[in-house]
Amino acid sequence: MPSKSAAVQTVVFPVAGRGTRFLPATKASPKEMLPIVDKPLIQYAVEEALAAGATQLVFVTGSSKRAIEDHFDSAPELEAALEAQGKDELLRSLRSIVPSSATCIYIRQPAPLGLGHAVLCARPVVGNRPFFVHLADDLIDAEVPCLKQMSAVHAEFGGSVLGVQTVERSETDKYGIVAVEPVRDRISKVKAIVEKPTPDKAPSTLAVVGRYLLSGTVFDKLEHIGRGAGGEIQLTDGIAALLGEEDVYAYAFEGKRYDCGNKLGYLEATVEYGLKHPELGHEFVNVLARILASRLRGK
Ligand code: UTP
Repeated sequence: MPSKSAAVQTVVFPVAGRGTRFLPATKASPKEMLPIVDKPLIQYAVEEALAAGATQLVFVTGSSKRAIEDHFDSAPELEAALEAQGKDELLRSLRSIVPSSATCIYIRQPAPLGLGHAVLCARPVVGNRPFFVHLADDLIDAEVPCLKQMSAVHAEFGGSVLGVQTVERSETDKYGIVAVEPVRDRISKVKAIVEKPTPDKAPSTLAVVGRYLLSGTVFDKLEHIGRGAGGEIQLTDGIAALLGEEDVYAYAFEGKRYDCGNKLGYLEATVEYGLKHPELGHEFVNVLARILASRLRGK
């Protein structure tokens, strides 16, 4: 199949939200630095983007987000200490956080005016090319990384691609919800998109989760949409404005998503990734079994 579109090289990570659901943990440190076992959420995000071929990593940061820049910066003193102690494995894991072939760029969102506004802040770096948007608090465990799956859809069909998942009808008011026409297995064409509709008004139960591959035209739309649901400048409204002018596809990705923006989803991810961890998994399962057995005995 000839490719309709060139590979996407730029990924935008909006990390300037307030993270109020995790306060006080997120008072001085960003939500995206919360660890799942031994890596912060933003590192899983970067790994997924690199696996999809991205080489330009654009972080849209806000107040108290310096930890993210520090995380992706080199740490000569720490590296020297690890080297002196012969901790080669740890040293390798630090040095491989971002390969030298990738570039990190940091842009400040002056105030958390919404996800659409955060994405718009990246325009001077992204230009008019297609780009990924990755929300690190949606952690997706997949054999083929989610952005890579979406890249393949884009290569075949062109246009923009939204990562979607079916949710309970009672949950539609937490997501952007799409109305679609099927194209083929897992892929459909978006006919309408609405931000956080109440269950009775939702056009479907197909929800956009934190993965997007967007045409650069979305920036023109975001410039003009104004505030939407919750008084914020919504990415969903920018995408809605694209419909009718350009193709937008919904792609039901393969993989399991953990909503790490809420505490229960975060705990679930921690347990699942702990169980899968190559060094800890076999002991952690015993720890969990002990805790559960004692709970069930009523202790
Ligand atoms: P959320 O809706 O999860 O909001 O943002 P939040 O502020 O991070 O968290 P809560 O709801 O207060 O607990 C979705 C994504 O958009 C980014 C967030 O950092 C998160 O990755 N975002 C949101 C921005 O970068 N800027 C904004 O103005 C709003």
